Amino acid sequence: MRIEFIRLQNFKSFKDVTMKDIPDYCVVVGVNGSGKSTLFDVFGFLKDCLTYNVQRALQTRGGFTEVITRGAAKDAVISIEIKFRMEIANANRRVTYIVNIGKKHNKPVVTKEILRYKRSRYGSPYHFLNFADGRGYAITNEEDFNRPDEELDREEQTVGRDVLAIKGLGQFERFKAASAFRELIENWHVSDFHINLARGSKDAAGFDEHLSVTGDNLQLVARNIYENHRDIFNKIVDAMQRRVPGISKIEPIATQDGRLLLSFQDGSFKDPFIDKYVSDGTIKMFAYLVLLYDPEPHPLLCVEEPENQLYPMLQEHLAEEFRRYTQTGKDSQVFVSTHSPDFLNAAELDEVFWLVKSKGYTAIKRARDNE
Ligand SMILES: Nc1ncnc2c1ncn2[C@@H]1O[C@H](COP(=O)(O)OP(=O)(O)OP(=O)(O)O)[C@@H](O)[C@H]1O
Ligand SMILES: [Mg+2]
Repeated sequence: MRIEFIRLQNFKSFKDVTMKDIPDYCVVVGVNGSGKSTLFDVFGFLKDCLTYNVQRALQTRGGFTEVITRGAAKDAVISIEIKFRMEIANANRRVTYIVNIGKKHNKPVVTKEILRYKRSRYGSPYHFLNFADGRGYAITNEEDFNRPDEELDREEQTVGRDVLAIKGLGQFERFKAASAFRELIENWHVSDFHINLARGSKDAAGFDEHLSVTGDNLQLVARNIYENHRDIFNKIVDAMQRRVPGISKIEPIATQDGRLLLSFQDGSFKDPFIDKYVSDGTIKMFAYLVLLYDPEPHPLLCVEEPENQLYPMLQEHLAEEFRRYTQTGKDSQVFVSTHSPDFLNAAELDEVFWLVKSKGYTAIKRARDNE
């Protein structure tokens, strides 16, 4: 599954922007305050809407008035439109999801929610889910492609006025596109790595498959890869050896008092260094490799400014690792923001989007469109 297109209206600094032909590996640049974090927060916002409800997702961001673009008309709605590709009934289809959020009687309301795609090569896209103000329908036999449109079964439903219909319907297998989109958003991962949280021994009793947002479970995830996917662990160590001078061996070690730590062997010394005492960049590079060599990659990964603490010459390798993540055959997509010229230099022209603020609003441009 792959996001190809995003249109945002009245979402914070995005008054009305469109991103087309989004590549699998997407690098976002722009001066401070141009809207990079806001762009990534679209996925965070949708995830909060799905986990809780729209009201709570807005509240976490200061409420409707903080989220809707300053200066928007009184009756304006926040609108998010996402087009993605997925396999449905043996064909690769382009699915459109649109959600509009307005305010009625001082409360946020989903004024429109649509999921549509074309059933055949010709004709206009069919609405498989169509809701407004908590009422609407979903098609229950969407995969019956032999039936004409008028023979599809509509299931009328009501949901809370500030609840996304895909939240409930997405749990049912029979609503194929809705559940796939819901899964994509729920498994969206943003990395907000904190070196000091990643360091230090952890309670060895735990077992974690995925690196957390902050990286504070690095030891547990590294042990899981070490014990259950040794070939992958060896690849990570191999990448570390090539990129961080002095590293010859890395091992998760359980201490007698039930703690777990990582030992980093420097070829020049007999005794290894534990994770608490290796350099910031060593921990960071290792954590990124653990994130990027995840045996079950996230379908959608966002990372802000991965370059910090890393030597300029390492940026190109790091960028390569991000791109490789999208090429593992697991259908993953990566959005990275950066302020590093070296990291940016490692990107292809087609991969770079560039945000510019004009009169308070963000415009999204493409590097390839600029001579
Ligand atoms: N409701 C709104 N209407 C218009 N602009 C808004 C609204 N809410 C926030 N902004 C502005 O949007 C901008 C986007 O900031 P954002 O954090 O996305 O920038 P950034 O590109 O990540 O910057 P940095 O490189 O410093 O991290 C900020 O300048 C903020 O003031
Ligand atoms: Mg930012």
